[in-house]
Amino acid sequence: MNDKAVLITGCSSGIGLCVARGMKARGWWVFATARQPGDVARLQAEGLESLPLDLRDSDSVRAAVAEILDRTGGRLEALFNNGAYGQPGAVEDLSREALREQFETNLFGTQELTNQVIPTMRRQGRGRILYNSSVLGLVALPYRGAYVASKFALEGLADTLRLELAGTSIHVCLIEPGPILSRFRDNAHAAFQRHIRAEISPHREKYAAMAARLLKEGPAAPFTLPPEAVLKRVIHALESPRPRARYPVTMPTHLFAILRRLLPTRALDVVLRRAGGEGRR
Ligand SMILES: NC(=O)c1ccc[n+]([C@@H]2O[C@H](COP(=O)([O-])OP(=O)(O)OC[C@H]3O[C@@H](n4cnc5c(N)ncnc54)[C@H](OP(=O)(O)O)[C@@H]3O)[C@@H](O)[C@H]2O)c1
Repeated sequence: MNDKAVLITGCSSGIGLCVARGMKARGWWVFATARQPGDVARLQAEGLESLPLDLRDSDSVRAAVAEILDRTGGRLEALFNNGAYGQPGAVEDLSREALREQFETNLFGTQELTNQVIPTMRRQGRGRILYNSSVLGLVALPYRGAYVASKFALEGLADTLRLELAGTSIHVCLIEPGPILSRFRDNAHAAFQRHIRAEISPHREKYAAMAARLLKEGPAAPFTLPPEAVLKRVIHALESPRPRARYPVTMPTHLFAILRRLLPTRALDVVLRRAGGEGRR
């Protein structure tokens, strides 16, 4: 299997790191990318083939793809679009800049990268493109508007791409985790501090509860799973002869996927306000 190369974004921590290690252990040729040079060095030191890739930067995306194709002799079996972050904050407090940054990483960079590997997959007559979406690509929760919007948009691009690539043997899969233990909340807290002026917001009291939750050590939501739960679904998406279009991970994703189909909007809103009212993610 070691001629099967997979490019993974956002391998400095959490799901990306776990999947990079896990797929390497299964014999895949893993290109574990990260945006910080220190993280690239750390990944290399533990024996992973790592190189820089910052989704905000087109040159970085282009250079990483060129370098990987150079090393593999122009082949790439799979792409796991994983790198992303959550910009917390009430919708009315989101500046254009905060929204733009959120979309630059979670959507624009991700799709730019994807579009750069599709020609290789077309040439070789097969490939797998995985997007790490979220339960928040299926339903909204209060105070996660920027992130929710980016993941809804990601679901839209992935669903469309799957239709357009039907019949090519390039499979497009959406991984949809609920709460997973990672550095996600630390990074979300940093984004919150960067962009939200909590002290002048009508939501400031909610923000205090939200910040406490973002800074909480260990699981902050019920049914939180370790990143290995995502790895299990990624293995299926990459290795099964018939990969699925969607892989819900964690109980909340299964539950909300059903509720959004069954409940009228008014009833679903009551559930979602309760689920997210304190700024939980
Ligand atoms: N944890 C959850 O509960 C959860 C639930 C549903 C979906 N997800 C999704 O799972 C994926 C991985 O998140 P995680 O939980 O593993 O969180 P994490 O530990 O914060 O990892 C996120 C990764 O994305 C990277 N990243 C951020 N901005 C980037 C950029 N501009 N270019 C390249 N990489 C960038 C981060 O790098 P730095 O270290 O440099 O910031 C980090 O390596 C994300 O797509 C997230 O939306 C997570």
